[in-house]
Amino acid sequence: MTYEEAKQALEANGQPQVLQFWEKLDAAAQAALLAQIETLDFAAIARMQEMLKQSGTPAAAAGAFEPAAVEIPEGDALAACVEQGEALLRAGKVAVLLVAGGQGSRLGYEGPKGAYPIGPITDAPLFWFHARKILGLDRTYNTHVPFYIMTSETNDAATRAHFEEHDYFGLPREDVFFFVQGMWPALTPEGKIILDKPGHIFMSPDGHGGTLAALDRSGALADMAKRGIEQVFFFQVDNPMVEIADPAFVGLHAAKGADMTLKVCLKRDAHEGMGVVVVRDGHFAMVEYSELSDEQMERTNPDGSLWLAYGSPAIHMFSYAFLKAEAERNMPLHLAHKKIAMVNAAGEVVKPEKPNGYKFEKFIFDVIPNAKQVFTLAFDRTQEFSPVKNAEGNDSPATAKRDIQTKWRAWLAEAGITLPEATPVEIDPAYALNAAQLKAKGLRIS
Ligand code: UD1
Repeated sequence: MTYEEAKQALEANGQPQVLQFWEKLDAAAQAALLAQIETLDFAAIARMQEMLKQSGTPAAAAGAFEPAAVEIPEGDALAACVEQGEALLRAGKVAVLLVAGGQGSRLGYEGPKGAYPIGPITDAPLFWFHARKILGLDRTYNTHVPFYIMTSETNDAATRAHFEEHDYFGLPREDVFFFVQGMWPALTPEGKIILDKPGHIFMSPDGHGGTLAALDRSGALADMAKRGIEQVFFFQVDNPMVEIADPAFVGLHAAKGADMTLKVCLKRDAHEGMGVVVVRDGHFAMVEYSELSDEQMERTNPDGSLWLAYGSPAIHMFSYAFLKAEAERNMPLHLAHKKIAMVNAAGEVVKPEKPNGYKFEKFIFDVIPNAKQVFTLAFDRTQEFSPVKNAEGNDSPATAKRDIQTKWRAWLAEAGITLPEATPVEIDPAYALNAAQLKAKGLRIS
């Protein structure tokens, strides 16, 4: 893109201030700014401005809704799901999709969140837990489960280097596919693009809803098609206890012919930061916790249980066909009012005391209302969900390490091994994916 082209595009879209310091930039900074301008999606920026005019209400938050019913398959129905899921895994029809583009800011960790050490004995990173489970699936089902990992510009190089350093945690390299999500500018309340340095536009990741466009743009969808993938397991980087592509979940989703199936679990308390699955106007939808009122969160049923009892741990199954169709649609936007350091008219960087700008994101779960068949599957959170989100307190490294060791100790007990409470435990998922596999190893304490 030339300077003239950039100037024209910015003027046509009411953003000439982006070039206000052009004359003061050296050649490298000018080139970098032009490259940034080239990535701007003015159609999306126009949608952001429209949203600011409507005082930021996301369409999804409005309207009356009811909590969605949940399924808890048991007995023969569960066994049939497991069988179908195993058959799909064996046939190489299942892929795994991880969103790891976020910025671990609540945790106060600088690197990619997936590199955060969480193994109670070895300090193994979150990525180890995920990759070794996929290797466990490969070994159990004599298959190749491809692993698609979404990064962002801020952590892509570091994520790839981390995988290199750990020799891909034993996974075949050709089965690991990194792809980068998009970046969006932030806007002032008046809808102007914010510069954080005289020659630099402030940009941040476009949210995990950016997965869809990025899957398409990067060729990941085409790669799935080439491999004959039919079902895609989706999860977030922060949960070391996630059961990746467990056959019951894969099988239930496939048996129902669903576009999307979501796992849900009972919330710890009314205010736990989890989205809730609801039915609105006859369609399933997710309402994010930040968009729920206190009254909605605290409402109870006559028996005293929470009205919105179940939360989403962001563990989903998608059919490949649905993901592909959704990649071509525009997703709704969500905005957050943030403190963003920006340059003033004199070109000086000013750190604000109060939120001064808006960041915009897309959320993957906004595809739910477009899905023809949606199911929600309830699971026991003590077995599958203990995310690492905060430095301390709930959902911290300490609680995740505690919970995963409780699970592993129970596996060992089933295998006839009881350890003193304080003994740290770590089990490589590629060695044993579940209690039954561990028992089959015939371990003895010598
Ligand atoms: C998220 C969900 C919430 C769910 C909860 C369960 C959202 C908006 N909310 O909340 O409904 O109940 O987890 O733990 O997701 N990410 C990207 N790119 C981005 C932004 C995020 O890849 O631009 C990834 C992160 O790396 C992470 C995941 O998305 O793996 C979740 O992001 P985070 O901001 O931590 O969401 P929560 O507020 O914890």
